[in-house]
Amino acid sequence: MDKLVIEGGVPLQGEVRIAGAKNATLPLMAAALLAEGKTIVKNAPDLFDVLTMGRVIERLGADVQRHDHTMEIDATSLDNFEAPYELVKTMRASVYVLGALLGRCGKARVSLPGGCAWGPRPIDIHLKGIQALGAEIDLDHGYIVADAPKLKGTRFFLDFPSVGATINILLAAVKAEGETVLENVAREPEVTNLVRVLNKMGAKIEGEKTSTLRITGVDGLNPVTCSVIPDRIEAGTYLAAAGLTAGDVLLLGAEPEHLTMVLAKAAEAGIKITVTTEGIRVESDGNLRSVDVETAIYPGFATDMQAQWITLMTGAHGVSLITDIIYPDRFTHVPELMRLGARISMKDNVARVHGPSQLRGAQVMSTDLRASASLVIAALAASGRTDISRIYHLDRGYERLEEKFSQLGARIKREHE
Ligand code: UD1
Repeated sequence: MDKLVIEGGVPLQGEVRIAGAKNATLPLMAAALLAEGKTIVKNAPDLFDVLTMGRVIERLGADVQRHDHTMEIDATSLDNFEAPYELVKTMRASVYVLGALLGRCGKARVSLPGGCAWGPRPIDIHLKGIQALGAEIDLDHGYIVADAPKLKGTRFFLDFPSVGATINILLAAVKAEGETVLENVAREPEVTNLVRVLNKMGAKIEGEKTSTLRITGVDGLNPVTCSVIPDRIEAGTYLAAAGLTAGDVLLLGAEPEHLTMVLAKAAEAGIKITVTTEGIRVESDGNLRSVDVETAIYPGFATDMQAQWITLMTGAHGVSLITDIIYPDRFTHVPELMRLGARISMKDNVARVHGPSQLRGAQVMSTDLRASASLVIAALAASGRTDISRIYHLDRGYERLEEKFSQLGARIKREHE
């Protein structure tokens, strides 16, 4: 297993190219199953989760080829309807093939994703929406068995605007007979990216960026060439790292529109933000003010930025309150940050960060993707050496992380434990 060794205390300086968004790539890969022929996905990040999704759709019969950041998915002949446990358990988003398989073949057998590090994370809304479209769903030995010789348009209200449920139901609905109206859907940029690509493939979806999607079913979809939007969470992670290390970093290709809330909060914390034609420039003198955040659905503050924000606030003057409404149990990074000298107290889903703290290097352990990112940021700002173990989480969602941070001047290397 690999670990990261970081000698902190260097202000990050320079430019970093923001990769395509993992969470936008995975739904596009599932969408490719809806069309016979070759779909080309550009700007696809080179990440473990993308590789896993590739394995899932290859198992169904698709051919997946990668050349640098371009992925070619040929889904002409699908000969299997099962997404097995050993793949789905490693990545929840593989459950997207449920909607896509129903849309393409009218049947699917997909392992239930199971629990994860931050709470139960059910998929009840995915299943209710797909049932509303007329699919019969059974649970059999840990598998969702779905059958729908003909999906039928419907009106469905999501109990919560879940990103995953919106994507899964949408993938099934685009080919359902007649009109489907989905209310209270997620409006995250990754959903909008999918809506646009599906429309390019020939789907008829109205209402992008709003909480109601109106879909007129079509008989077939065509393969297209499409592109993945920049990763707003990767951009936010580099922003927090630049902010805490008193750095000056240009986030090349970052999309300010997707980061409105994070940029506003960063500015409130005393970080200078300049939007340029090339991206977003982040300048910090290290003199940060405490700023409270509460996670929310888009365009609110993303739960995927909560851990990084807590870390940033360890360097801010005063007390900041960070509340996670979306995933109340997602705080496994807090005890690890405290090992680095952060002063944080927890009450329910609220972290109270007392700052500023001079962080000091220590041995810590990654617990999930964004928690790991928060530890990297802390280690970059800490004095002395930090060893972060179990970094396979980072490889799921951050492309060439140590190389990118090295280019910004960080002293960071990967070692085999
Ligand atoms: C996606 C992102 C993840 C991000 C999350 C919230 C991907 C691959 N993952 O996850 O990085 O943290 O959005 O922005 O894009 N819920 C239910 N029933 C359901 C589905 C969800 O109760 O059927 C609840 C969840 O428990 C959670 C909330 O809804 O409290 C939000 O979850 P959701 O938006 O579905 O997150 P994911 O799609 O799993």
